[in-house]
Amino acid sequence: MNKHIDVTDTALLDDALAGLTARQKYIDPKWLYDSAGSALFEEITAIPPYYLTRTETAILRANAPQLAGLVPPGGALVEFGSGASVKTRLLLENGPHIGTYVPIDISGPFLQETAADLRRRYPSLSVAPVVGDFLHPVHMPRALSEVPKVGFFPGSTIGNITPEAARLLLSRARAWPHVDAFILGVDLVKEPAILVPAYDDPAGVTARFISNILVRLNRELGATFDLSAFDYQARWNADAARIEMSLVSTKAQTAVLGGHDIAFAAGEPIAVSMSRKFTSQSLQQLAQDSGWALDALITDPDALFAVAVLRPDGG
Ligand code: TRP
Repeated sequence: MNKHIDVTDTALLDDALAGLTARQKYIDPKWLYDSAGSALFEEITAIPPYYLTRTETAILRANAPQLAGLVPPGGALVEFGSGASVKTRLLLENGPHIGTYVPIDISGPFLQETAADLRRRYPSLSVAPVVGDFLHPVHMPRALSEVPKVGFFPGSTIGNITPEAARLLLSRARAWPHVDAFILGVDLVKEPAILVPAYDDPAGVTARFISNILVRLNRELGATFDLSAFDYQARWNADAARIEMSLVSTKAQTAVLGGHDIAFAAGEPIAVSMSRKFTSQSLQQLAQDSGWALDALITDPDALFAVAVLRPDGG
């Protein structure tokens, strides 16, 4: 079969090969989110054991006026990984004084669509989307250099990146000219009996979401992963305070990817994603390490999730 290879395919192939030929196999979770993956994640956010989205939404809704009030009149709200900006609308609806909304997202077409929708909804709001990977420095619109800014990073996505990447992201935001605050959504450490089912639901939606990465390699790169010979596993690593999601080879087998043989032992895992959980201490440490101070930690009545307000440290 002759297949058209575009730039993205090459990036996926190089990246997947690097991970699958490493001593401990892994695949970068950013490849989870093609359109099928994004739809599956959307589905996860609505299933009962996945408490994160509904709990964070409830916290944002209950505190929207105060949170929107962190943005000075005419200031800008800058969101990392904005997606459909659903949670942001809670702030925008309570922040008619907000001058500019800067959604940053990796998906250009999706970002433009969301921006157009927001301009229709909030005619007086200026929407200045930035296409980019939030793990890299963000090129803020020049017109905003003198405008006060508040960062917004919901969804506990900060827990899906390495501690180093998290510190770097927050340090870069701290270095924005005229930054006033940062609103950060984080999932909290709690009993595994609550944590694990959130990442391993009985209906198997999460398993399908994570497995989608192998489906992609087969479909887009002609790889030969046998989906029936990998089991999804979600484990709580208490020492690292994180859920670790992997695909475990149920037998000794070999798959072909881009002309390379990828051999698996029985029981060998591919690490796909992790989700770090925080305590007020670990969050305080993260803030401090990146030039911020933890100003407020707003939780739900069951202390499942938290929305943290960070303020520039010593500023
Ligand atoms: N921020 C979400 C979380 O940590 C996103 C996520 C990453 C996720 N990997 C996942 C959600 C796997 C469900 C399953 O929960």
